Amino acid sequence: MSTENSSDNAEKIRDVIRYIKRFKNATVVIYIDDRLIDSPLFSSHISDIALMHEAGLNVLIVPGAKMRIDEVLQTANISWTYKNGLRITSDEAVPLIKMAAFDVSNKIMTSLSGHGITALIGNWVRSRSKGVIEGIDYGNCGEIEKISVDAVKTVLSDGFIPIFPCIGWSVNGKPYNISSVKLACEAAIALGAEKLFFLTYDSVLNAENFEIHNELPLTPENNIPALNLEELDLFIKANEKKDLPELALLACAKDACRRGVSRVHILNGSVDGAMPCEIFSGLGSGTMIYKNDYGGIRSMQIDDIPRVLGVMRPFIERGILLPRTEVELNEHRDEFIVYELDGGIRACAALIRYPSNENEIAAVAVDETYSHMGIGPKMVSYLVDKSRAQKADSVFILTTQTSDWFEKLGFAPDSVEMLPDERRAKWSPERGSKVYRLML
Ligand SMILES: CC(C)(COP(=O)(O)OP(=O)(O)OC[C@H]1O[C@@H](n2cnc3c(N)ncnc32)[C@H](O)[C@@H]1OP(=O)(O)O)[C@@H](O)C(=O)NCCC(=O)NCCS
Repeated sequence: MSTENSSDNAEKIRDVIRYIKRFKNATVVIYIDDRLIDSPLFSSHISDIALMHEAGLNVLIVPGAKMRIDEVLQTANISWTYKNGLRITSDEAVPLIKMAAFDVSNKIMTSLSGHGITALIGNWVRSRSKGVIEGIDYGNCGEIEKISVDAVKTVLSDGFIPIFPCIGWSVNGKPYNISSVKLACEAAIALGAEKLFFLTYDSVLNAENFEIHNELPLTPENNIPALNLEELDLFIKANEKKDLPELALLACAKDACRRGVSRVHILNGSVDGAMPCEIFSGLGSGTMIYKNDYGGIRSMQIDDIPRVLGVMRPFIERGILLPRTEVELNEHRDEFIVYELDGGIRACAALIRYPSNENEIAAVAVDETYSHMGIGPKMVSYLVDKSRAQKADSVFILTTQTSDWFEKLGFAPDSVEMLPDERRAKWSPERGSKVYRLML
């Protein structure tokens, strides 16, 4: 193995260890579409859940039961209708719906037992009739009134995985059918979950199926890797006429994020390892919905220096960035900012001030796994804002291969002669970097 590969692998392993540390004791709610139970990857997903549990995460499971309920009602010749995404049935369907919901929960519990994990199916949800709204009688559909948070926390602290069937009970013990997607959301909110996973059968937010506004960053496969709440609002509005199941998930995701869940992930259950990749690496394949800017920009600390060098290394090796040593970074550490995401340094940049009241943005580097997510533009705009606050007249950059990207951010070509004297003295004709400038 080359030294370069072995360093890369070592860094990946360090990343996983950091993630495990970061998410130890975090609460993760997982909705599982019941169609996945018969899929070839089901046992891998269950084994991943077992690993997450063993890594110290508090895992709760909310199984969807739509397919199983369809089956039992069809077998019993009971019809139903859908109104606003809710199944409306006669009273005779209720025992069968309950049976189907517990049946699915049981299958998941049994699979977890195969991994030595004890799961508990419980009646932790208090519900009430949804009633009649705008002339529509919702029959046996229930609204979630309350989740027994203390009881669930006790189950979790005893080392068990709670499983929530999509049934709620009224104060008088009457069962109601509740939406498992909503239940997953409410459970995540009530328990202050760090993550809510929707492990869907095959959902992918792709540019082929949805209207996507131009500025939204996409992966090379044209999938949406992340949406903040403002972007999500635009996305929902642009696609509201479409009859796609993902829109209901997104509406719930929005609610969950607004009400305190840190991140919601829409995952494609036909991807092996979809959940652990999302938690323990930067290789997530789904769409993440988040409230605040994920990660965050902060000043570089001494401890960050080896990881910042790790982010820059591939670009230095390709001659895109100038080589820098640990000693140099330490000497100039006040100039550097880093972009931290889930406990790892994913990008860096520096802002250098000159007595001529102009600033230079340098050493912009984004870990390639995190490119196309808008991290680079966020760092540049942060440094431009900082320069404005410092009342600098302009910001310039020197680049050999990234001029188009800076032009897109508003920088215009300038000449080497216009550089401050001390910077022009260091300009290398062999390297031949071009100058771009943004007036403030
Ligand atoms: C350039 C860089 C900072 C972009 O970071 P990012 O967070 O991925 O930025 P974005 O989210 O805007 O996505 C990158 C976009 O810029 C484009 N891009 C990347 N490198 C580019 C380059 N050298 N020239 C022109 N466009 C480039 C990508 O194709 C992508 O476009 P798309 O979203 O339309 O597909 C990052 O690729 C990087 O670290 N490059 C190496 C170091 C470097 O060049 N630094 C600048 C010199 S100081």
